[in-house]
Amino acid sequence: MSDFSEISKQYESNSVVQKSASQILFELLDIQAKDDVLDLGCGTGHITKEIKSKTDGKVVGVDPSEGMIKKAQEQFSNLGITFRVCSAEQLDYKNEFDIIFCNSAFQWFVNPVKAIAACYASLKMNGKMAIQAPSKYNYCPNFLTAIKEVMQNKATKDIFSGFNPPWFFRNTAEEYTELFSGAGFRVKTSNIVEVNTYHSVEETYRIFESGAAAGYLNQAYYSTQLTQEYKDSFRNIVRNSFSNQADETKKVRLTFYRIYLLAKKEG
Ligand SMILES: C[S@@+](CC[C@H](N)C(=O)[O-])C[C@H]1O[C@@H](n2cnc3c(N)ncnc32)[C@H](O)[C@@H]1O
Repeated sequence: MSDFSEISKQYESNSVVQKSASQILFELLDIQAKDDVLDLGCGTGHITKEIKSKTDGKVVGVDPSEGMIKKAQEQFSNLGITFRVCSAEQLDYKNEFDIIFCNSAFQWFVNPVKAIAACYASLKMNGKMAIQAPSKYNYCPNFLTAIKEVMQNKATKDIFSGFNPPWFFRNTAEEYTELFSGAGFRVKTSNIVEVNTYHSVEETYRIFESGAAAGYLNQAYYSTQLTQEYKDSFRNIVRNSFSNQADETKKVRLTFYRIYLLAKKEG
C-alpha cells in the first residue's frame, strides 16, 4: 500500500516541489516572532521546523498520517514543536493560533467545508490562514498524460477502472474564495498560478511518488483489488511516460497549477 505513512520514509528528499511552493506561503503569512502557528497537514515536519525558526510562539504540526507524525516527532520534537495525529476535519482548537500554514495538503481534505470551519474556530481574532495546493482538474498535465497511458495499457486498464480519485480540486480561484468566505473568512489573496520547473526523469518520478502515488496506488481509493503486478506495471508505465516527456536535454518540463490563498478572521 502506498499511503502517506509509507511515503514518509522518503518524503523529505522527494518533496522538492512542495518545499519550493511553500516559500510563497512564508511570504504571504509573514510570521512574526511571537506568533502561535499551526502547520496543518505537516507531513514529516521539515517545513514545521522552518516555521519554528521564525517564532518563539507555540508551534503545532498536525497530520492524520501516523507515519508522517512519527517521523516528524523523531526528527523535530526536540525543537519544542508539538506534533499530533489529527486531520483538518478533526481540529478541536478554539481561538489558539495567530496563523494556520497549510502547504500541499488541502487537496487531500475529505470535507473541506468542515475543515475550513474548524480552522476558523482554531484561529484567534485577526488570525490568518494560507493554503498552497495543486488545483484545477488538470492539476499536473504531465501526471495526467502518464495516467492516460495507465488507463489504456492492457496490463493496468482493468484494475485502474476501479480507481476513484480522492482529491479535492476546483478550476477557479473564485471557487476557493467562496469556500473560505462561506466559513466567515475575509479572503485577501486568491490566485491560481501555473508553475513550471525542470527535472530529470528520475526526479520527476520521485516527485510523483512523494504525493500523487499516495492516491493512485492506494487500495482505499479502488473498488477493484490491487496486486503487486499492477503496482509494478503502473510504476513502469508512469516512469516510461516521463521518459517520453523529456526534452533533448533529458529534462521534463513539469507543470503544476497551484492555488495560493490568504484569508483573515476578522470581527
Ligand atoms: C504532500 S504532503 C505535504 C506535507 C507538508 N505540508 C509539506 O508541504 O511538505 C500532504 C499531507 O497532507 C496530509 N493530509 C491528508 N489528508 C489530510 C487531512 N484531511 N487533513 C490534514 N492533512 C491531511 C497527508 O497525510 C500528508 O502528510
